Order: sequence, then C-alpha cells, then structure tokens
Amino acid sequence: MNFFVRGYCRLYQKIINFASYFLSFKEPEVIQGEGASAKIPAYLHKKGFSRPLIVTDPGIYSLGLCDPLLKKLDEESLTYIVYKDVVANPTFDCINEAFAMAKKNNCDSIIAIGGGSSMDVGKAVGALMSNPKKSLSKMRGILKVRKRLPLLIAIPTTAGTGSEATLAAVVVNSKTHEKFAIEDPKLIPAVAVLDSSLLKKLPKKIISSTGMDALTHAVESYIGHSLTKKTRSYAIEAVRLISDNLYAFYSNPEDEAPRSNMQRAAYLAGVSFTRSYVGYVHAIAHSLGGEYNVPHGLANAIILPYVLKAYGVKAEKALARLSDAITLTKSGASTHEKAVAFIAWIEDMNEKMGIPKSFDHLIKPEDISLLAARANKEANPLYPVPKEMNKNELIEIYKEIDPQ
Ligand SMILES: [Fe+2]
Repeated sequence: MNFFVRGYCRLYQKIINFASYFLSFKEPEVIQGEGASAKIPAYLHKKGFSRPLIVTDPGIYSLGLCDPLLKKLDEESLTYIVYKDVVANPTFDCINEAFAMAKKNNCDSIIAIGGGSSMDVGKAVGALMSNPKKSLSKMRGILKVRKRLPLLIAIPTTAGTGSEATLAAVVVNSKTHEKFAIEDPKLIPAVAVLDSSLLKKLPKKIISSTGMDALTHAVESYIGHSLTKKTRSYAIEAVRLISDNLYAFYSNPEDEAPRSNMQRAAYLAGVSFTRSYVGYVHAIAHSLGGEYNVPHGLANAIILPYVLKAYGVKAEKALARLSDAITLTKSGASTHEKAVAFIAWIEDMNEKMGIPKSFDHLIKPEDISLLAARANKEANPLYPVPKEMNKNELIEIYKEIDPQ
C-alpha cells in the first residue's frame, strides 16, 4: 500500500480509536454456570420485567434448549412470547416479524437464545423497539441506534461468535439481498448468560469452527493497533483458555470444564474485538461467506495462518507474546521463532480437528478481483491491522488460500 493511503488509514483509525474512549462500551452482566439460563426468570422478576420476547431458531427450539428457561418462566407465572423462526443470515422480513410480535404483545424485554443469528435478531428487534419510526436501513452503519434498548439478554448456544458481548447486528435486506451491519454500543446485551449445559450436544464440526472463530477474534484484536488495557488482557486470556480447552471440548463435549472454559473464552474474545476490531482474516472470510456461503468460523480457521504470515515482521512481536502466553517455545527463542511457533500451533489445531489447509477449488479465479475489492472495502481504512494491505496484496492471499 502506498505511503499516502497508509497514512490516511492510520489517521482514520487513530480518530476512531480516540472517539471510542468517549463511548460507553458497557460490558454485559455475566450470569454463568451449568443451568444458568433457568436463573433468568428470577432475574426478570427482580428487575421488574414481566413480558419477555424469546427469540430463537427452529433447530434450537426443537432440540429443547429453550425448555429449562420456558419451564421456569411458567413457574414464575411470567407471560412470554416465543419467536422461533430465526433464519441464518437474518433478513428484514424475519426481524420485522419478530418486532411485530413484540409490539402486539407489549413485550418489555428480549431474550435471544441461539447462535449469532438469534442474537443478531434480538439486537435488531431491540433497536426497532427503541426507534419505532426508524427502519433497519436507516440504522445501517455506526452509531445510528443511539437510544437505549429494552432489556436484552443473550444466551449463546455455541462457544465462538462472542455476539453476546458485541455491539453489532448483521442483517440482510430481504429485497436487495445486501448484507450489512448495524453497529452501536447500545446493542451490547445488558446480560450474557453463559450456560454450559446448552453446549453438550454441539456437533464436532461446530465446536471446531466456532472455537477457531473465537481464536481469530482474540488474535486479530490482540495484534491490531487499537488495544486497550482491558482488551489486551481479555484477548490473551481467551488465547490461553482456547489453547487449554478447545481440543478437549472437541474430543469430549460431555466434559463440563472444557465446555464452560471455551464459553468463557468466546465471551472474552467478543469483548476484546468489539472494542479493538478484527482484521483481514475476517474481511476475507466475510467475502467468501457472502459469495459462497462458507461457514464463518471455518473460513476464519483456514485463512488465519495465511494472513498472519502475510503480516510478516509487523505482527511478530505481538504473536511472540501470544506464543509466550501459551509457552510454545523453549527459553532463549527469538521473536521470529516464537511467532513462527504460534502460527504452526494454529495450523496444528486445525489439522487435529479436521479443518482443511486450504479451500479446494471453491474460489473461482474470475471472482478474486471482486472478492478482494469487497475485503479491501470492509477493512480499509477501519481495521487497525498490523500491516496495511491494498487490494492487489489481498489478491495474493486469495490465490494462496485456494491454489488452483
Ligand atoms: Fe468472527
């Protein structure tokens, strides 16, 4: 990237980073432990809420993951309405349907239970409830929600997206199929419930890909230029927890400790990246998700080592610190050796969990230019990456991740 564009990107990031100190990135109140979702009705009572809208998807609902919560709501004689039709990549139609339900039933709070999509719908419905005259399109981009949401409780059923701690809702315009984010600290859920019992039956493929998504959040935020004291410590703690627990969780999902530790890691990584951003791994993964529907975590897992290598010496110091945090090398190793060991550890994790080394003829050569342009548009100038890359440099990464 040329000197002037790079200078512009860095200045833009500095301004955003400075402005962020004046915004409230209020961390959710965390309620955790096996069976923690059943504590929510008592919490609602205590806080004076009585009519929650439950937002979930048909899979989670039919697996019975909402049952302990619903049973307790019944026991506490709370009136609730269930919207269980959340779709992957939630559309305006889906969100408006849930919002209409909330309005019709005078709901005073929202409980989103599921993966990233359910939490996105919960946030978007909350944004509409506090801005009934604004459309979702009008809230596109940064800081357009502005008003405080009704009580929003997020209950993740995977350990990866970190959406229970983030300020973004990703939605799809039903007419144009355009996917975009609504980003505002007001969307950060007031309460995150980390109930490890909900993760017992997760398929191995979801454990590996969502776990590597969490790792990508932690690594990308840690090596970027917008770290704060808190996001630095959260990211490093998330990497430690992932190193100690992801493979154990993958090998035996019934084992409680690794499961709850991974849930904690995903949460910490979520808090970290919502303030300190992600980088080119996510930008490239989003372009592949939009075009070819590649699962987000899987795309990140494959792309992460390639992008870290492309950052070269610019990321080495930070990667060496992460390497030290999980003691990958013997004492006396150089910064370069530690960084190399950290990337090799990621590749090893991928291999152990059956994640392929590259995409197998997924990316059409004729699409690369457009995909790289989209990744470039998403990442530059916003993401405070260790090394700025332009579209042409990103094109080289697309060629590496899918050698034709
Ligand atoms: Fe992600």
